[in-house]
Amino acid sequence: MDMNNLLRLFEQHYSFNQEGIRLFHAPGRVNLIGEHIDYNGGYVLPAALQLGTYLLIRANADRMLRLASVQFEQLASFSIDELPTSKSDEWTDYALGVVHEMKMAGQPLTTGYDLLVAGNIPNGAGLSSSASLEVVMGYAFMTLEGYSVDRTALAQLSQRAENKFVGVNSGIMDQFAVSHGKQDHAIFIDCDSLHYEHVPFQIQGYKLIIGNTNKRRGLVDSQYNERRTQCDEAVVQLKQVFPELTYLAHLTSEQFQQAKHVLTDRIVCQRAEHVVLENERVKQSMAALQQGDLLTFGELMNASHESLRDLYEVSCEELDVMVQEARAIKGTIGSRMTGAGFGGCTISLVEQAAVEEFVQTVGANYERHTGVRPDFYVCDVGDGVMELQWPNN
Ligand code: GLA
Repeated sequence: MDMNNLLRLFEQHYSFNQEGIRLFHAPGRVNLIGEHIDYNGGYVLPAALQLGTYLLIRANADRMLRLASVQFEQLASFSIDELPTSKSDEWTDYALGVVHEMKMAGQPLTTGYDLLVAGNIPNGAGLSSSASLEVVMGYAFMTLEGYSVDRTALAQLSQRAENKFVGVNSGIMDQFAVSHGKQDHAIFIDCDSLHYEHVPFQIQGYKLIIGNTNKRRGLVDSQYNERRTQCDEAVVQLKQVFPELTYLAHLTSEQFQQAKHVLTDRIVCQRAEHVVLENERVKQSMAALQQGDLLTFGELMNASHESLRDLYEVSCEELDVMVQEARAIKGTIGSRMTGAGFGGCTISLVEQAAVEEFVQTVGANYERHTGVRPDFYVCDVGDGVMELQWPNN
């Protein structure tokens, strides 16, 4: 990111000088394994990326909140005394949602601010550009206002902004990973208790490659909500056998086998089976990564994809083609879709020596099948949200 250019843009929008401008950054995230598990109260294993969102911010004296983005020409301004309380389907909803939730939490803005946002996370690719934007806003406002920042509370507040203000009913994983990320570590999160652990992500000799299908995730909101409802329904029915059950992911696979006869709807049963087995795969992955057993982790990635495709039915042709082509490369030891599904990205664990061949061959074959050119990123695991010093200071 060219910081001097961002400073120039900030000046163009807000004029005069560069004094007092502060700089913040929040990453995107990629989920290594544990898909559609967060809202089922189980374990997930995401990692923060080095791709992310930059925020330049400075308090002003006129009680206005002004929001500019390098992606959109229009500057949006609001009086902080009359902030909107509902969405407008603009990118500014993410900022306004966070400010609204801060107010509800007793942390209102006490002054106006001028902001400029820039990012390098591809939008709509399932790498959490929206969680990144929410978390960087919340962190910056709380820091400048002098409110104490608790990273878990920040993730929860950002999730509420997404659920209630933006209107997307997502789980806690994305905002949590963006808040708590740590360079070269994955984050093992228990999405029920919100206990977490940083796990060294050591993949010597291998690279994790993110493949963007460049298929925008169609239908994702309605299908996502439908999956959530089906999981809730499964819990209600399984209570006949386990009256205390609150979340699907609390069941072991043995308990699920014992109780699944009460799930008379085939689809609901499939969804529940994915959740129970995927949750176990996360625990197995954690153990494999701790022992440096990448081959086992790769197999678990493959099994995760099969389950998301066949049982949870959130894959799509583009994701399946990319995964299939990825696995055809000799140095690939695991490949799966990542994120909510219905488009977006795959991740593949690939021998370092095969990375170039991977990018060229998978890219060409994917384009031949789908007519769409994909993008690849070698995944560097970065830190969670933070304030940055200006590079020349
Ligand atoms: C989206 C949601 C997350 C999670 C994933 C699927 O990224 O925002 O909360 O449910 O899908 O694992």
